[in-house]
Amino acid sequence: MYIAATADLHCGLNDRERIRERFNLLPPQADILLLGGDLTNYGRPEEMEVLISQLLRLRLPIISVLGNHDYESNQVPVLLRMLREVGITTLDGEPYVRDGVGFAGVKGFCGGFGRGELTAFGEPEIKSFVHTSMEESLLLERSLSQLREERRVVLLHYAPIPETAVGEARELFPFLGSSRLSDVCDRFGATVIFHGHAHHGALEGRTRGGIPVYNVAQPLLLSQSPPAAFRLIEV
Ligand SMILES: [Fe+2]
Ligand SMILES: [Fe+2]
Repeated sequence: MYIAATADLHCGLNDRERIRERFNLLPPQADILLLGGDLTNYGRPEEMEVLISQLLRLRLPIISVLGNHDYESNQVPVLLRMLREVGITTLDGEPYVRDGVGFAGVKGFCGGFGRGELTAFGEPEIKSFVHTSMEESLLLERSLSQLREERRVVLLHYAPIPETAVGEARELFPFLGSSRLSDVCDRFGATVIFHGHAHHGALEGRTRGGIPVYNVAQPLLLSQSPPAAFRLIEV
């Protein structure tokens, strides 16, 4: 299966043309398209409508997760319904299988990496922040543990390792992702992990357990030479 992956389309109300041009760059070999969150700029249903009108032209199976920008207008249930209504699978802790390949996806959350990982200690606000990070990794754990397929693809918005965030300001790292996400993948096994969110990060890295991780944030892919809008990976 050839997977074309991208993230951080940040579709706004006036972006129909821009999105259309980007999708013209979709590799023709792609069997499936993965969208790693920040589908919209402000999480407005009108923005999602613009994006969906372009996604429907592709006639490809599409799997997505939402990103932090998609949460901005408190319209997540509406956005999810819009995606489902047109047959776009949006993962949030439920496993999905297609053509013998298992998919697990969550948005993920911040919290930091390795020794810099925030722990649930002290003020209730810190505990609640860390709790959200743990909840996301538990959701991922739940979906990965239900998959029986040998080939398993993980789709996230936030980064699971610091290596693919390198290029972003160091001060931002705690807000770019969480090691809890990669720990789960190492424990339950995954073939490949895709994520976005770190627009100025690095293209690829590996978890401590050796799973390949691809940062497919579209601004990052477009900044390469030659520029690409999608990462094509065979699983
Ligand atoms: Fe983004
Ligand atoms: Fe983001």
